[in-house]
Amino acid sequence: MMNIDDIKSRLQMMLSQKRFSHSTHVMEASRILAEKYGEDIGKAELAGLIHDCAKDMDKSSTFALCKKYDIIVDSIMKKQPEILHGMVGAFLARDLFEVDDKSVLAAVTNHTMGCENMNKLSSIVFIADYIEAGRSYEGVEKIRKAAESSLEEAIVAGVDSTIEDILKKGKLLHPQIVLTRNWALEQLKGRTVGLL
Ligand SMILES: [Fe+2]
Ligand SMILES: [Fe+2]
Repeated sequence: MMNIDDIKSRLQMMLSQKRFSHSTHVMEASRILAEKYGEDIGKAELAGLIHDCAKDMDKSSTFALCKKYDIIVDSIMKKQPEILHGMVGAFLARDLFEVDDKSVLAAVTNHTMGCENMNKLSSIVFIADYIEAGRSYEGVEKIRKAAESSLEEAIVAGVDSTIEDILKKGKLLHPQIVLTRNWALEQLKGRTVGLL
């Protein structure tokens, strides 16, 4: 793997200044969550830093890389290719930054829509993306507060805000994010029942 400073310099060339700053903020938020919830701090920081490495690519490069890496592009992804930057980013991280840790690459893949049975590292990066210090959108405090209680609560709160935003903008809702929400919600309910 490239060392973290070289990854940062490379990232800086791939991303806008704003996106690079967001990435370092997600790195920091991932570290804080990893400390709180007992995850490997180095992995969390690395995954947080590189999670958006493919986000500033244009549509045609994104589709070209999907072809190169055999990523299955469904009809919703075809219309809203920004959904693909997690999956494409994981392959880029492997090939450009020589990241070989499977859980770090999975966290990059999963940060866009999550997945059922997401592990702790993926959950941490997923949430860090919502609550990093530079975020100030309406509803962010609710997600920050949920992240104080549990990862699953924060996932539900984050996905809810994304779904509300998608509905407001009249965009297509990808079923993957609904599956993620339902899984996290069931985890929460299961815990509540366990307490009774
Ligand atoms: Fe992203
Ligand atoms: Fe992000």
